[in-house]
Amino acid sequence: MDRIPFGIAGLDEMLGGGLIRQTICAMIGTYGTGKSTFALQFIYEGLLRGENVIYFSLEEREDRIYDVMTDRKFKIDKYRDKSLFVIKLDPTDFNFSINSIKKDLPEMITKIGAARVVIDPISLFEGLFDDPSERRREMSYLIELLRDLDANFLLTSETNTTDAYTSKYGLIEYLADTVVVLRYIRPDDLTEVHMSIEVVKMRRSKHSREIKPYEILQERVNVYNEASVF
Ligand SMILES: Nc1ncnc2c1ncn2[C@@H]1O[C@H](COP(=O)(O)OP(=O)(O)O)[C@@H](O)[C@H]1O
Ligand SMILES: [Mg+2]
Repeated sequence: MDRIPFGIAGLDEMLGGGLIRQTICAMIGTYGTGKSTFALQFIYEGLLRGENVIYFSLEEREDRIYDVMTDRKFKIDKYRDKSLFVIKLDPTDFNFSINSIKKDLPEMITKIGAARVVIDPISLFEGLFDDPSERRREMSYLIELLRDLDANFLLTSETNTTDAYTSKYGLIEYLADTVVVLRYIRPDDLTEVHMSIEVVKMRRSKHSREIKPYEILQERVNVYNEASVF
C-alpha cells in the first residue's frame, strides 16, 4: 500500500509506515497538545519530498504560521508561494460560508495540485453550524468532496471538554480514515505533565495500539516509539 510518511519517525512507525495515500487523518487534542506543530511538520515533510502543500489556518494569521516555521528552522523561503501555500480562513468573515468552502476549497487544492492539505482546526469550521443535524450533513458532504481529490488530508480538532478521545463536535473521528489522539497525562505522583500519542483508528491498515510519549522541542517533535508512558 502506498504510504505517505508523516515526517515524525516514531509516529510513522506507529502508523505502519505512514498514512495511506489519499486518505483523511484527524488529529484530536486539547489546546497546547501540539496539533498545529504536528501539522506543520506534516506539510514540511511534503515540501522536502517535492510536493505542493496547503495549510488552511482558521486560527492563526499567515505571518504567524511562517514565523513559527522559521523558529523551527524550517527552510521555507524557496517554497513560499511556489509549493507552500498558507491560507488564512476567517470563520467570522461574512463571506466565509459553507457554500464558499464547498466550492473554493476543492478548487484551490486542485489548482495548486496539493499533495498535502491541512485544515487547522476543522472544529472552528464545524462551529459555523448551530444545528447538529445540519452540521453532520454538511461535514459528511465536505469530507466526501475532499475524498475525490488526489491529496492527503490532516484535519485537527479540539477535544470535547469532558473526554480527551472525542472531538469537539464528535463527528470528525467517524468521518476520518485515521484518528490520532494527543493527550496530557498527569500522574498523581509526578509533578510534570507528560504528553501521549495514540493511533486510535486506521481504516484498511494494521497499526500500533500503544500509547507512546512525545515531546515538542524547539526544532522538532519526537515520538518515542521505543518508550512506554507508564
Ligand atoms: N519552539 C518550541 N519549543 C518547545 N515547545 C514548544 C515550541 N513550540 C511549541 N511548543 C509546545 O507546543 C505547545 C503548543 O503547540 P501547538 O501546536 O500550538 O498546540 P495546539 O495546536 O494543539 O494548540 C506549546 O504549549 C508548547 O508546549
Ligand atoms: Mg493549534
